Amino acid sequence: MRNKEVHIAINVWVNLCRFLLAGLFIFSGFVKAVDPLGTHYKIQDYLTAFGMDGLFPSYAPLLFSIVLSALEFSIGVLLFFGVRKKTSTTLSLLLMIVMTPLTLYLALKNPVSDCGCFGDAWVLTNWQTFWKNVVLLIAVISVFVGKRHIIRFVSAKTEWLVSLYTIFFVLFLSLYCLNRLPVLDFRPYRIGENIAEGMTIPEGAKPSVFENTFILEKNGVRKEFTLDNYPDSTWKFIDSHSVLKEKGYEPAIHDFSMMDRDTGEDITDQVLTNKGYTFFLVAHRIEEADDSNIDLINEIYDYCVEHGYGFYCLTSSSEDSEIDQWRDKTGAEYPFCLMDDITLKTMIRSNPGLMLIKNATILNKWSDNDLPDEYELTDKLENLELGKQKVKSDVYTIEQVILWFVLPLLFVLGLDILVVKRNERKRKNKDQKLINPLIKTKMRKNIVAGNWKMNKTLQEGITLAKDLNEALAGEKQNCDVVICTPFIHLASVTPLVDAAKIGVGAENCADKESGAYTGEVSASMVASTGAKYVILGHSERRAYYGETAATLKEKVKLVLANGLTPIFCIGEVLEEREANKQNEIVYSQLAGSLYDLSAEDFAKIVLAYEPVWAIGTGKTASAAQAQEIHAYIRSTIVDKYGKEIADNISILYGGSCKASNAKELFANPDVDGGLIGGAALNVADFKGIIDAFNA
Ligand code: 13P
Repeated sequence: MRNKEVHIAINVWVNLCRFLLAGLFIFSGFVKAVDPLGTHYKIQDYLTAFGMDGLFPSYAPLLFSIVLSALEFSIGVLLFFGVRKKTSTTLSLLLMIVMTPLTLYLALKNPVSDCGCFGDAWVLTNWQTFWKNVVLLIAVISVFVGKRHIIRFVSAKTEWLVSLYTIFFVLFLSLYCLNRLPVLDFRPYRIGENIAEGMTIPEGAKPSVFENTFILEKNGVRKEFTLDNYPDSTWKFIDSHSVLKEKGYEPAIHDFSMMDRDTGEDITDQVLTNKGYTFFLVAHRIEEADDSNIDLINEIYDYCVEHGYGFYCLTSSSEDSEIDQWRDKTGAEYPFCLMDDITLKTMIRSNPGLMLIKNATILNKWSDNDLPDEYELTDKLENLELGKQKVKSDVYTIEQVILWFVLPLLFVLGLDILVVKRNERKRKNKDQKLINPLIKTKMRKNIVAGNWKMNKTLQEGITLAKDLNEALAGEKQNCDVVICTPFIHLASVTPLVDAAKIGVGAENCADKESGAYTGEVSASMVASTGAKYVILGHSERRAYYGETAATLKEKVKLVLANGLTPIFCIGEVLEEREANKQNEIVYSQLAGSLYDLSAEDFAKIVLAYEPVWAIGTGKTASAAQAQEIHAYIRSTIVDKYGKEIADNISILYGGSCKASNAKELFANPDVDGGLIGGAALNVADFKGIIDAFNA
C-alpha cells in the first residue's frame, strides 16, 4: 500500500475505535448515573467478594459509583467530540488496564455473578464482559497511540464548554436519580409491571430449582433448616438464603415472598391477589433507613387505615431489636414483613422507598425525598391521579436527556462552526498573509537555485558570483535566483551580490545548535554571513553522509529558528522509480522530516524534488513525470496543511536540468523552478535556465 493509503487506513481505524469507545463509555456511564445506588450495591458486592468491605468508610462505594459514572460518561463525550485527546485517551487506557485483568479474574473465579458494567440495562456474563474488555483494550490502545488522527468536532476555543457541561450534566443526573429514583428503570419492578405475572412460569417450562435455607435460633443456638425440616414456632427466624440448585426457566421475578414478621406466615398470595390498593414501605435494612420523613410515612399509613388500603413495611432486617428500634423511634404502627435483601434493593432504589400496587400491578414508586403528602392524599386513591398508573415513560426520559444534554451541545457545536471556526479561519488567513509573503499574493514564487556542491575554490567562487551578479544586473527577472555555495564562500560571496536579485545559501548545516562538534557549521553561523537559504536533505548527503529523517528534522528546526529558508530535497533512487514506489518514497521523506511542523513553519519551506537517477546523469525526468510527482507532492500537502498552504509552496525540480529542457519542465503547473547542479557552475548555462521564465 502506498503511504497515503496507509495514512487514510490509520485515520479510519483510529476514528472507528474512537466512536466505538465513545458509544460504549457514554452508554456505560449513563446507565450508571441513572442508577447510582445500583452501582453502589454492585461495588459493595465486589468489596464483600474480595473481603474488603471493612476497609472503606460506608459512603465510599456510593462516592465511587458517582465518580465512576461521571468519569466514563465524560471520557465518552470527549472521545466523541475529539477534544482533550490526551486526557481522554490516557484515562480510558488506565481504566481498561485496570478493568481487563479484573474481569479476567471475575470470569475465572466468579466471585460476583454479573460485573455490572452496564448496570441492569444490559447484563453480561463474566466471560462476555472479559472478551468485551479485550476488544475495548485493543480499541483503547489504538486511540491512545493514534490520538493525533482523531478528528475533532469542536475547536479548542469551545472544548472547555463541552467538557464542563458534560461533567455538570452527568453529576446532576446522578444526584437527581439518587435523590428521586432512577429516571430509567431496567429492573423487573418497573412501574406498570405485574408482580404476580412476573412470577409465573409458562406452562411446560422447567423452573429453576432453588434451595431455601433458614437460620433460626433457640436458646441462643443458631441452626440452619430447609423447608423439609422447618422446626416449630419455638425457634426464632434469623435469616434466610436462596441458593440456585438447577438452572431452568427463570421468571423475571422469582424471589418475591412476604413473610409476616409477627406470625411467620407467608402472606405473598394474600397480598398479590388483593384487588385493592396496597402500599409497600420498602426498607431493605431498616437500621440504615433514613428516618427524616417518618411523620409523612406515618401519615400515609393513617391514610391507608382510614381508607382500608393495605400497608406493609418490607425489610430484610430480621433482628427484633432493629425493627423495635424503628418502631420506638418513629412510632410506626404498620405491620412488618420479611423479604430477601436483594429483592428489596431491586424493588426500589431508596431506603426507605414507597411502592403502590393494585391487583399486583405496580402503579407508582416514590423515593424517601419525594413521598406524597397530605396535599396530595386528599381523597380516596380511586379519585386521585396518584391512584392511577404513573405514565412517565422511557420516551419522556429520553426526550428530557435530548433537551438538557444533546440540544445544548448541538447548540455549542453550531456556535462553534458558525462563529469560532469562521473567526479562526479569518485569523489564520490574516496570520498567514503576515508570515509568508508567498501567500500574500496567493501566487507561489518561481525560484531558480544553484547548488555548487563541492566545486570552486574561494577565488573561483567569488569570480562566479561576481559574473552572475553582473549578468543579471539590469535584467528583468521573473523568478528568484539563489546560489548555494560551500560554507567557506558564504561570507565573501554574500556582500558581493545584489541581495535584491540573488539570494545566497549554504548546502548543509549542523543538526546541533552549537558546541563541541568539530568540523560542523551551525545554522546560526550560516545566518551570520548574511545568507538566507540552506539546502537540506540533498540525496548526496543522505547517501554519503548517512543523513536520516530524524537528523534532518532537527536541521529544519534550527534553520527555521535562525530565520533561514530551508530548500528541502526529496526524491527516489532508480530501483524505487522502477518499482513505481516514487510516491511512497517522497511521502515518507516529507512526513519523516517536515509533517510535524506547524502550518506557520511549513509555509516557509521550499521543496525540491530531485530524482536521484537524474542527478548529474544527463537523464532528466520528462516534463510529464515531473508534473505528475510534483502534483502528488502538492496533494499530500493539501491533505496535511490545506489547499491554501499547498498552493503557496514552491516545488523545484532538480536533476540534469539545463537551459535546453528548463522551459518545458517549468511550464508545468506544479513545477515552480529548479535546483541546478552542474549547470549552475557556469554563468551562461545558469542564466539560460533563469531565462526560461522570461520567455
Ligand atoms: P545536476 O543538475 O548536476 O543533475 O544536479 C542536480 C542537483 O543535485 C542539484 O542539487
